[in-house]
Amino acid sequence: MAAMTRKILIIGAGQVGASLGTAWLACGHDVRYGVSNPDDPKHAGLPRERLQSARERRDAEVVVLATPYPAARSALEALGDLSGAIVIDCTNPLGMGPEGLHLTVGFDTSGGEEIARFAPGASVFKTLNQTGAENMAHAAAFQPRSMMFVAGDDEARKPIVMELVADLGFESIDAGPLRAARLLEPLAMLWIDLVIKHGHPREMAFARLRRD
Ligand SMILES: NC(=O)c1ccc[n+]([C@@H]2O[C@H](COP(=O)([O-])OP(=O)(O)OC[C@H]3O[C@@H](n4cnc5c(N)ncnc54)[C@H](OP(=O)(O)O)[C@@H]3O)[C@@H](O)[C@H]2O)c1
Repeated sequence: MAAMTRKILIIGAGQVGASLGTAWLACGHDVRYGVSNPDDPKHAGLPRERLQSARERRDAEVVVLATPYPAARSALEALGDLSGAIVIDCTNPLGMGPEGLHLTVGFDTSGGEEIARFAPGASVFKTLNQTGAENMAHAAAFQPRSMMFVAGDDEARKPIVMELVADLGFESIDAGPLRAARLLEPLAMLWIDLVIKHGHPREMAFARLRRD
């Protein structure tokens, strides 16, 4: 069980949002899903009382962005003033080109940094973008432990995010400031490439090892 219960609003109850919500609920966190239509039958697998409009933050301390990257700006702006909120950005800025999926942002900025501009006053963290959604629901099943990097500028509140990531079963590793999202989004792209183009199983995740 989690050491401290957090009020978490997950925007987007698709593959990532539903996986994270289910896993955090099992840890004892107070999870709500912000969705376009709470009565849409596609959300039938989630507890109805935890579904709400994606346009209300209410008292959530942590807002988790689990929409497609192009929807991130409108999703954040719909929530109004996010000053003081922690925003966990799980998105990857993906586009489709002649060689398949690729990153649409990079080198001198990142999706995470762009998203921070859409949520002024919020503390934005890039994490939970580096492996498949199913692995986020079953992170504790990996041996050795799977890693998950966390990047963000708010050092005071980074431990909250590190703990939420660890609650899922990941080894949560501080990757430094939000600009490190420039490294974490290509890392996610590597996972996607390995799975889509090179036959690796989706049950694959990255781990950190060290020698004695
Ligand atoms: N799938 C993975 O394995 C994986 C892993 C790591 C990171 N990611 C990243 O995580 C994000 C979500 O991926 P996913 O696979 O979970 O996508 P998904 O299954 O397509 O779910 C995305 C959800 O976002 C909702 N949505 C879209 N626009 C919205 C808006 N403006 N406001 C509120 N909700 C909105 C959609 O619901 P409605 O259509 O009802 O609005 C949908 O349920 C993406 O950025 C992806 O790159 C995915």
